[in-house]
Amino acid sequence: TRTPVTVTVTGAAGQIGYALLFRIASGQLLGADVPVKLRLLEIPQGLKAAEGTAMELDDCAFPLLQGIDISDDPNVAFDGANVALLVGARPRTKGMERGDLLEANGGIFKPQGKAINDHAADDIKVLVVGNPANTNALIAQAAAPDVPAERFTAMTRLDHNRALSQLSKKTGAPVSEIKKLTIWGNHSATQYPDVFHAEVAGKNAAEVVNDEQWLADTFIPTVAKRGAAIIEARGASSAASAANAAIDHVHTWVNGTAAGDWTSAGVVSDGSYGVPQGLISSFPVTAKDGKFEIVQGLDINEFSRTRIDASVKELEDEREAVRGLGLI
Ligand code: NAI
Repeated sequence: TRTPVTVTVTGAAGQIGYALLFRIASGQLLGADVPVKLRLLEIPQGLKAAEGTAMELDDCAFPLLQGIDISDDPNVAFDGANVALLVGARPRTKGMERGDLLEANGGIFKPQGKAINDHAADDIKVLVVGNPANTNALIAQAAAPDVPAERFTAMTRLDHNRALSQLSKKTGAPVSEIKKLTIWGNHSATQYPDVFHAEVAGKNAAEVVNDEQWLADTFIPTVAKRGAAIIEARGASSAASAANAAIDHVHTWVNGTAAGDWTSAGVVSDGSYGVPQGLISSFPVTAKDGKFEIVQGLDINEFSRTRIDASVKELEDEREAVRGLGLI
């Protein structure tokens, strides 16, 4: 039998946590033959609700679930963690400036990064879901100098999946026939979903669509503003689809991408495509042997270049802001 993998989830009592934990425990995160131990991190006010979720997890009698620990101390929750899903974050509230938001989240992600540095397992993989995800990931990564920087990633897989779905609807091709889509940049309204290298049933997606107006005026804003549209319709933010994307991200990271395809993830830039080194930006990535690699050598046309640059500029501004606050 395999040794269990310890998975720490922060914000475990929140909406995404509720949609995520059962899928992890059922084997969908790592594989149907991998036992898991769950560690739930919450703030003190969230502990009771986390205990309720843990009771329900018990009541599922998942064969792969080998234990649940709940804590409000990051040093305990990340102890021995192999996978960390950082979901809990400080939402933007009325009247909050961007600087206030970054500072409040720095107060969460800096100590969590340090706790990961000091206590997590050597093979720790971190996915930041809580917003602003890219910059929160950067803050956590900077606080963990002993962990290889590439182990810190930010989630743009939900954006990727949203783009797949929109392109599927437009072309009539099933999602399974769409390959090589890319989300570039920041997980924010400036993100850029790129179809110029994508394939629809083996043909170039931009040629299949053949409608730059649709790309500019419908596709890109629909993907970028989907979160707001969900809130408007559901009266609550995306939770099940966000949890699903987190499952996809880690599953791909651990188990690899299919030959002839790639996915999107916020990863530490090595300077590729003019994205300044060290920024955690979304790129086209493949995964193999537990490592993401940025897909190299794609031609970036003018349409894409201006949009990638705008989103990357936003990430640079966020990095400057958190630097100014002493968070990195
Ligand atoms: P929620 O408000 O329902 O849950 C957040 C939970 O985090 C709460 O239970 C809260 O007590 C907990 N929490 C707050 N600070 C914490 C800390 N320091 N340590 C541990 N737990 C803490 O929010 P929801 O809907 O679950 O969303 C979570 C985050 O995910 C938000 O920041 C949201 O913006 C983000 N998100 C990101 C997406 C992406 O594509 N990257 C998509 C959807 C949501």
